[in-house]
Amino acid sequence: MNWFREWLLGPQGSTHAQSVDDLYVFITLLTIFFFFFNGGLIWYAVRKWRRRSAKEVTPHITHDTRLELIWSVIPLIVVMGIFLWGFNSYVKAWVAPNDAIEIVATGKKWVWQFEYPDGTRTLNDLHVPVNKPVKLVMHSEDVIHSFYVPGFRLKRDVIPGRYTELWFTATRPGVEQVFCAEYCGKGHSDMLARIFVDSPEQYEVFLREGDEQVRKMPLKELGKLVYENKGCATCHSLDGTRGQGPTFKGIWGHPVNAADGKQHEVNADYVRQSILTPQAVVVAGFEPIMPTFQGLLREREILGIIEFLKSQQ
Ligand code: CUA
Repeated sequence: MNWFREWLLGPQGSTHAQSVDDLYVFITLLTIFFFFFNGGLIWYAVRKWRRRSAKEVTPHITHDTRLELIWSVIPLIVVMGIFLWGFNSYVKAWVAPNDAIEIVATGKKWVWQFEYPDGTRTLNDLHVPVNKPVKLVMHSEDVIHSFYVPGFRLKRDVIPGRYTELWFTATRPGVEQVFCAEYCGKGHSDMLARIFVDSPEQYEVFLREGDEQVRKMPLKELGKLVYENKGCATCHSLDGTRGQGPTFKGIWGHPVNAADGKQHEVNADYVRQSILTPQAVVVAGFEPIMPTFQGLLREREILGIIEFLKSQQ
């Protein structure tokens, strides 16, 4: 049965996944059974009691109490069983163990931000240790988002003005994909994050020194990665098309007109300022909607973006 489950639902990444999958596979098999059972009954009845001559008249049938009880009570028992099964699993998924590591997750158009107990912050990349319970305390800065991890079989809405929680124990080292599952505007389908399930040692190193790629990757490649993974791509195109923000194509070293009427040259200082205090200079014709990345990007990542911009001629 495992191959069927895996084919249907994908590999399991958390302790919670098994109970969701069991119930899901049970309901699927039950549905397949009743599809053929009901279809068979209909086929049988249609053949057995078909009209054989033009003179035949259907007798007047009002009801059959015994039959009606059977087809009401048996399904009732089955659906109540499904309800209790699901409720049990839901309660377990809702209440986090006391020793869970608490990480604050913030959704905003169109990035996920994470803050760890020691103050480390990351964007769109969440690191967690394997086999340890982790609790996310989540809220939104703008509209309703939804934090969805298919591999963990978990999803919970992220709502402005309210905290919601989601907890899991990751069981499979590697990377899990996170989706936003609540339509939140133009960048909704790009609102992706990754969960890196680390060994305890890797997790410690990450908290101390940051991602390995941030420390070691050549700047231009790092910049490209930051551009793709940290939300820049949602608003800034590379091919000159107009998005929510100005394109990155061919702006390096050229002047831009700001909304306040002044001109600014796109150089390293300008790019750095635009990332950290994006409202300081807003390019004419665009809305001041870019969030600040202060404290969210490491210094090397900003340098990476600058190098990457230089290459976009
Ligand atoms: Cu955030 Cu959809």
